[in-house]
Amino acid sequence: MREKILQLKNISKAFPGVQALEEVNFDLETGEVHCIVGGNGAGKSTLIKILAGVYSPDGGEILLDGVRYERFTPHISRDLGIQTIYQETLLAPTLSVAENIFLGDSLINRNGVVKWKEIRARAKEILDLLEVDIDIDAKVRDLGIAGKQAVQIAKALANESRIMIFDEPTASFGRKEVDNLFKIIRTLKQRGVGIIYISHRIEEVFEIADRISVFKDGKSVAHHDSKEGLAFNTLIHEMVGRSTNQFYDRERVPVGGVVLEVENLRGSDVNGISFSLKRGEVLGIGGMVGSKRTELLRLIFGADRLLSGTVTYKGKTFQPKSPLQMMKKGFCMVTEDRAITGLLMKRSLKENIMICKYSKFPQMFLNMKEEERITRAEMERLSIKAKSPDQLVLNLSGGNQQKAILAKWLLTNGDIFIMDEPTRGIDIAAKEDLYQLIVEIAKNGGSVILVSSDMPELVCMSDRILIMKDGSLAGELLQENISEENIIRVIVGG
Ligand SMILES: Nc1ncnc2c1ncn2[C@@H]1O[C@H](COP(=O)(O)OP(=O)(O)OP(=O)(O)O)[C@@H](O)[C@H]1O
Ligand SMILES: [Mg+2]
Repeated sequence: MREKILQLKNISKAFPGVQALEEVNFDLETGEVHCIVGGNGAGKSTLIKILAGVYSPDGGEILLDGVRYERFTPHISRDLGIQTIYQETLLAPTLSVAENIFLGDSLINRNGVVKWKEIRARAKEILDLLEVDIDIDAKVRDLGIAGKQAVQIAKALANESRIMIFDEPTASFGRKEVDNLFKIIRTLKQRGVGIIYISHRIEEVFEIADRISVFKDGKSVAHHDSKEGLAFNTLIHEMVGRSTNQFYDRERVPVGGVVLEVENLRGSDVNGISFSLKRGEVLGIGGMVGSKRTELLRLIFGADRLLSGTVTYKGKTFQPKSPLQMMKKGFCMVTEDRAITGLLMKRSLKENIMICKYSKFPQMFLNMKEEERITRAEMERLSIKAKSPDQLVLNLSGGNQQKAILAKWLLTNGDIFIMDEPTRGIDIAAKEDLYQLIVEIAKNGGSVILVSSDMPELVCMSDRILIMKDGSLAGELLQENISEENIIRVIVGG
């Protein structure tokens, strides 16, 4: 028998200049997955931060097991058995994986000695459940974004809880990692845990949801008690107010001659990779989480130390030494981890968007009006939901931060766009806008290297796909052979 554990009634929350939530009702039963979907800035993360005790609501009430609360604090929320996996990773970067999983936990024995053996054993056990290949002694700062997500999930699983909240846990997971997480979620359900699950990947929502709530502009605009008979398009329409195709059908652009030759690139995790990139081409790179795709991109962009190898671009053969050098040559890189390498969180949207232009043309000077105009144009082009160009990036929703990264790089007018999970966390409408922009880049003679864990995205956008495995190239798929099955076949080594 399912029981209602949680009820939210008429919850409102305003931030200066924006009503993030307006009289929202929501409830959760034991042993169910209640999904929340909605566009970027709809208020999803705000709601779960209220449950985690990070924000206090301006109005409304929270009922947990029928007991009324006006607000939670992080402490109360935790004591009541609520665990949250945030959209942005909040881990201690200099501590190890095992330490992070048990951070704040009392694995200290009576004499005040930390039970290292137990901590390491339990951390390993939980990561094995997730089937992710992560060294428990690695420092968290050395993990990629997917690794960090896995550690966050493990951290939540390490604590027995009654309510688990996942805010876009799979944004940079591939199919295998998603499958493992869903297996764990199903086990949690059987144990009676109530689960709130937020995702922009609609096919995941259809797979895991028992009930679905749709948020739009701070309101809960639709609710489905079951996904039975619910059409994909109905849900999209409720979210973004228009229909889209589940599978994007991109316009094809003729591909020209070779513009970039990468030869035998070797870094600490990359074992000698060679490939060429053509004019107007979108070259996809597939592979499992941990296959070192990001590391390859970072080497090309000069962000990591190259052990050997060269790139040949515009008739010159050289070694990428720094991102600034590469930017001046016309390379741009959209990074996967927005909090660390992508944005200055405590600066305004305008400063963040203009920064690449200025580092590329230091002598260039624009007046404030012009900066404002450019920023507003980018906000319009990518539908960035922000109060004004002066809003701090820190206060934007996750998806809107991702759009800010895209805007800043798109403005540099580069020739080679390196994109690492560019649509991570952005809503379905904005995804299509970005796909259109990628096609525009190709049409204008630019070239794109696209790393994506989102299979439909990789399949529909790429002219050719390279597949990486353990830091090496495992295969190449030409356009006529591109399909999800073929990608998986190469990944598993068939
Ligand atoms: N601390 C804050 N200060 C000011 N505004 C904020 C703050 N946190 C959120 N907002 C604003 O509240 C609105 C809702 O944001 P929220 O993060 O809840 O969206 P979301 O539905 O999680 O979006 P996404 O899908 O992009 O993650 C946005 O307009 C956002 O800019
Ligand atoms: Mg969010």
